[in-house]
Amino acid sequence: MIYLHRPKLQKNTIINCEKVLHSNWISSGGNYIDKFENKMSKIVGRKYAVSFSNCTSALQISLRLSGANKNTDVLLPSTSFIATANSILYNNSNPFFLDIASDLNLDVQKALNFLDKKTFQKKNITYNKITKRKISSLLIVHVFGNPINEIDKLKKKCKEKNIYLIEDCAESLGSYYFKKNKKIHTGAHGDISCFSFNGNKIVTAGSGGMLCTNNKTLYEKAKYLSSTAKDNNYDFTHNDLGYNYRLSNINACIGFYELSNYKKILKKKKLIHSIYKNEFKNEKNIELININYPRISSNFWLNVIRIKKTKDLKKSFMKFSYENFFETRSVWKLLYLQKHLKNFNSQECKKSKSFIKNCFCLPSGLDINKKKIVKISNNIKFFLRKIN
Ligand SMILES: Cc1ncc(COP(=O)(O)O)c(C=O)c1O
Repeated sequence: MIYLHRPKLQKNTIINCEKVLHSNWISSGGNYIDKFENKMSKIVGRKYAVSFSNCTSALQISLRLSGANKNTDVLLPSTSFIATANSILYNNSNPFFLDIASDLNLDVQKALNFLDKKTFQKKNITYNKITKRKISSLLIVHVFGNPINEIDKLKKKCKEKNIYLIEDCAESLGSYYFKKNKKIHTGAHGDISCFSFNGNKIVTAGSGGMLCTNNKTLYEKAKYLSSTAKDNNYDFTHNDLGYNYRLSNINACIGFYELSNYKKILKKKKLIHSIYKNEFKNEKNIELININYPRISSNFWLNVIRIKKTKDLKKSFMKFSYENFFETRSVWKLLYLQKHLKNFNSQECKKSKSFIKNCFCLPSGLDINKKKIVKISNNIKFFLRKIN
């Protein structure tokens, strides 16, 4: 079976993990936690980084720090992994879904129009005209590792409206913007950004998350809340509701050594994407989802194709792929259609259904090679001829 995205740990990682196991620093203390955090803050270009047990918990705390609660709305795109929306609900807050573009990322122009036309301000607080609730934050997602377009405009607008900008960078480690020949990492624009080190991500820590920020107060609060809000070590006073969301030293060790290899990983990912691109370049009915904006570079985490057919191919395509020994995944169901989310409001999202229709993620992991990609691509072309 050719899997979608399996981790491939380096020898060095395994050797050093074994040392950690022997050292007994296997829980939430140990020197790899600081090392991993420092490395990430350097890569992302933020002053501070706090590690978490996963990205979901980092997002939950980010939203709490931005003031999300039962009386506020959090704006987010209608396409993402469910954790993005759930992190809002964990704060008893209200998701408000924004439309997506054909590249499956947030439709930035529509989001800007919404912020201009469908909100009002009172005493420097921005309210949603539709729900009448305060908007605490805009939670953006760089879906499949593709940086969203025109982030500077969004950042400016959020500042003008006094709304926190939070970046869900779970999938976008190694994805950049270029400004005046300077590389700016995704996650370096928002007030807070969160990364994932789950087993299927570009770089894994087994499991793990990282919250990055330039704001010292937010950093200190994130550290405090993620480690049970303990105020002193003598009598275990906790002056707030904290969480036990810390990363273990074993996971931090995996993340630290895997991160050392991320430039090599990015090179391979670029190559995988270019082979798929070449394979599908003459196929009228297959579009390899791509970002066509200047000055942006993707990490090509997962390669996604859109099969341009009106019939819903979800079941037949996935059955076919498993029968032919390669794993595929359809793009997530739209968030506002999920059972526990469908009573929340959204911007008019007329095109989103057609945009995600027949979009499938293809194997894109480091264990793949040209031969395997050609085999997968030929199978897909055969499938298309069969259904025609
Ligand atoms: C866009 C997005 N957000 C959040 C998450 C949650 O990350 P984690 O599994 O580390 O909690 C994921 C993970 O797959 C994701 O893809």
